[in-house]
Amino acid sequence: MVGFRCHGCGAKVDAGLALAFRCPNADGDDVDHVLVVDSEAPSPSIGSETDPFLRYRAWLSPYRLAREAGLPDAAWADLVGQLDTALTTVDGHGFRVTPMAERPALAEAIGLSGALFVKDETGNVSGSHKARHLMGVMLYLRVLETARLQAGDNIRSRRLAIASCGNAALAAAVVARAANWPLDVFIPPDADMSVKARLGELGAQITICDRRPGETGDPCYLRFREAVAAGAIPFGVQGTDNGLAIEGGRTLAFEMAEEFHRIGTVPDALFVQVGGGALASALAQGLALARANGLLPRLPKLITVQTAGCAPLARAWERLDGIDLAVAAKTRSKFMWPWETTPSSLAHGILDDETYDWWAIAEGMRASGGSTVVVDEAQVAAAHRVGRTHTDIVASATGTAGLAGVIATPDAGKKIAVIFSGKER
Ligand SMILES: Cc1ncc(COP(=O)(O)O)c(C=O)c1O
Repeated sequence: MVGFRCHGCGAKVDAGLALAFRCPNADGDDVDHVLVVDSEAPSPSIGSETDPFLRYRAWLSPYRLAREAGLPDAAWADLVGQLDTALTTVDGHGFRVTPMAERPALAEAIGLSGALFVKDETGNVSGSHKARHLMGVMLYLRVLETARLQAGDNIRSRRLAIASCGNAALAAAVVARAANWPLDVFIPPDADMSVKARLGELGAQITICDRRPGETGDPCYLRFREAVAAGAIPFGVQGTDNGLAIEGGRTLAFEMAEEFHRIGTVPDALFVQVGGGALASALAQGLALARANGLLPRLPKLITVQTAGCAPLARAWERLDGIDLAVAAKTRSKFMWPWETTPSSLAHGILDDETYDWWAIAEGMRASGGSTVVVDEAQVAAAHRVGRTHTDIVASATGTAGLAGVIATPDAGKKIAVIFSGKER
């Protein structure tokens, strides 16, 4: 069985029998409920394809589920291929291994004497890494349909739903359009006009979410939860609502690990900008898998970057000092709760008031000797400026915020890696 397990309460979900998205016991207690892959593929092979969803298919549970359900390898290639063709029509191209290169001019500009590697996700589907998360979810849905598995009963009658007004919403709309699956996007009244226009072009149904009298919490997220309770499929990137979304993001780590393996190096530290936490969680899990399967001799330190305006993960990390993570998973509210003040930052895409995937990130930071770093606005702005002037990558300030962490901690190591994501619009 291809199974998922809640890292908080231990509940098991058979991905063929029930949707492996939200823990069935979530709600009502203080446990950190997030579904994770129960047992990973033993010694997965790497294909020769350049589409990461073909290249690393043996590492992905939707592929394993397809094979277990009796679909041949060619059926997976067909599902990926059909979506790839449709993505090309919708967005100009499908998924391909994205470039990573050493950037000496950028290193020099920030006073780094060693090597600085930048993985460039701005050319990925919909302009950011977010589509990786959602492609993993879509392939799972397509496998359920194709293999006629119980978890997929009547699934086409259910709409997809996401609460986001940025890169995640755009990614969801592109992938949903490619699969010809209707999508509801819940956005705030002040959402960016260009994002709204693109969502409309992609055929997403937009719901503007005003705060209702007496309501606390993010109105977009509340409306999203209501839609899911009424039958919509959670098509967002927060692990708490859709643990399987983390998996597709792990392809980013596999690509980086393979390239580091090829050039025979391991960076001392990987700096990652953190909002809801799916990206850092996916990288932590993906790098650990890459190491377990011999691609990396050791892990780079995972250093997570948030802005001073909103740093719930850094707050949790301090409180986790000396605490057993298994215990922390049962007492979530001692470590993670919504940031109290309304934040603002040039890196507005990482202002999530909670780091939903905090636990897996903390595990990754502990396993690698990493930590959190909180950057100020001058560092966010400097990273954006040098990123734009010393590379040919047109990334947003959210997407260069990992570099702000490098600027803030110049002694983190001789070889540093960052991810630039989120094309500037
Ligand atoms: C460009 C970019 N980088 C990084 C992140 C952070 O990802 P996560 O919310 O998974 O922590 C985001 C989130 O919106 C983003 O848009």
